[in-house]
Amino acid sequence: AATSAADAVRPLIRTIPDFPKPGIQFRDITTLLADAYGLRAATHGLAELAACHPCDVIAGIEARGFIFGSALAVEVGCGFVPLRKPGKLPVDTIGEDYQLEYGEARLELDPTLIVDGARVLLVDDLLATGGTAVAGARLLRRAGAVVEQALFVIDLPDLPGRGALSAEGVEAHALIAFEGH
Ligand code: PRP
Ligand code: MG
Repeated sequence: AATSAADAVRPLIRTIPDFPKPGIQFRDITTLLADAYGLRAATHGLAELAACHPCDVIAGIEARGFIFGSALAVEVGCGFVPLRKPGKLPVDTIGEDYQLEYGEARLELDPTLIVDGARVLLVDDLLATGGTAVAGARLLRRAGAVVEQALFVIDLPDLPGRGALSAEGVEAHALIAFEGH
């Protein structure tokens, strides 16, 4: 069940205090990734969440969303589309600029990878302010996707990510939540 996946995943996430600045608790997934059982549990847990929301393709957000998104795509048997950081794609792209806590960021997509009307499941490791995922959803929609569901390994429910996505018409689902910032 998703609960047992969450129970396996939670203790494998490492918390680094005061990174990248004082007062921030950084939730580090590298310890989860390095653990064979943990990586599988995270993938299976996401697949259980995905089972309620059939999709045609999974889109993952560079960089950490690539790891879980591609594992999930293999698990559920669909393709994977990358939402990339700027300047990486060798073809014509569309882009969405967004705000991060410290400055500006941008995601880019090759719109020819999206079949018009495709149901796209958006995947990332972490939902914090929601700025990244909202930009991803907007970008996919501009390419013709239907985006109604987003999956995350970690939700930070004290930050406004879930509400920001909801305001865009996207429902967020996460394997685990960490209270506090
Ligand atoms: C982190 C994280 C999410 C995003 C969440 O990515 O992986 O993508 O921030 O924050 P938000 O909800 O406030 O937008 P980051 O851009 O730091 O880098 P990475 O994934 O490339 O490591
Ligand atoms: Mg990221």
